Amino acid sequence: MRRTPLLSACVLAALALATAGAALAGNGGIAPVEPRSPNADGIRDSYWLILAVVLAIFALVEGLLVTFVIRFRRGRRQRFEDGAQLHGKSSLEVLWTAVPVLILFAIVAFVFVKLPGIRNVPSADAAAGRLDVAVTAHRYYWQFEYPNGAVSVDTLRAPVGQPVKLTLTAPDDDVIHSWWIPALGGKIDAIPGQTTSTWFTADRPGVYKGRCAELCGLLHAEMLAWVEAVPKPEFDAWLEREAAAQQAGTSKLGEQTYAGACAKCHGLAGQGDIGPRLDGSAIASDPAGIEKVVREGRNAMPTVGAAWSDSQMDALTGYVKERFGSGG
Ligand code: CUA
Repeated sequence: MRRTPLLSACVLAALALATAGAALAGNGGIAPVEPRSPNADGIRDSYWLILAVVLAIFALVEGLLVTFVIRFRRGRRQRFEDGAQLHGKSSLEVLWTAVPVLILFAIVAFVFVKLPGIRNVPSADAAAGRLDVAVTAHRYYWQFEYPNGAVSVDTLRAPVGQPVKLTLTAPDDDVIHSWWIPALGGKIDAIPGQTTSTWFTADRPGVYKGRCAELCGLLHAEMLAWVEAVPKPEFDAWLEREAAAQQAGTSKLGEQTYAGACAKCHGLAGQGDIGPRLDGSAIASDPAGIEKVVREGRNAMPTVGAAWSDSQMDALTGYVKERFGSGG
């Protein structure tokens, strides 16, 4: 008779654990994204350790709570009659103070052991070499600049198996953004006027999606980023080709810049959204006019292209004129 509530509490707890297990097993749930870079491994390991400790403590505390509620319930005792009186037990108190301290110490030690592998950028003289990319975060796009001067917007191409060092910043008149590709390591802020750095080494080809992780304004949610990891020979060939094409004005940089820096406010088809319509507008056929607005901003529009090179500016104005210009 007395065992019945305890039994149902146990059944309930088992059900809750089974549900949590199912969530863990499926794609997504509370499991972190599959790590594809060594620093993401360290973050994942720390996450699981802390989650395991937290779940164990949760089960212990809730289990005791339910047990005590049942064990010390009023039962047939009179409404105003005192229950059994319990007094302190020093050994128990020492135990519940010392054990949490030890648990915290274990977590701190574990994280400190993992931290260098997460934070420290591998040095350039390792056998594989290193690719250094400058990342500038803008409202609301990412601009990447490769060592040979080639640039890309929102999508960073990277070689598989080679460490990639990212040096991040944001323009002085911009706001703080946060770079975060979960499969390739932790978050790092991009701060106006300061530089920060992080790194990754993609262990296989693929497209890894991320997003700006710092609320940066109206279109924060549109500020997505992709890392496209390709085999190193393919990457090297692409980088050389792309730099030459950007110099010659034959690349897709104009379209890419439009999609990243302009379309989020003005619409992919130039139809206008929170920014005015571009398709068929007078300014669309006026490269000098576009350049002025893009470099200096206007009303609510940030200075999205203040730092663009001439080749990127020409690519963008050329693309806009061809696609949306009225007389063209
Ligand atoms: Cu940039 Cu949120």
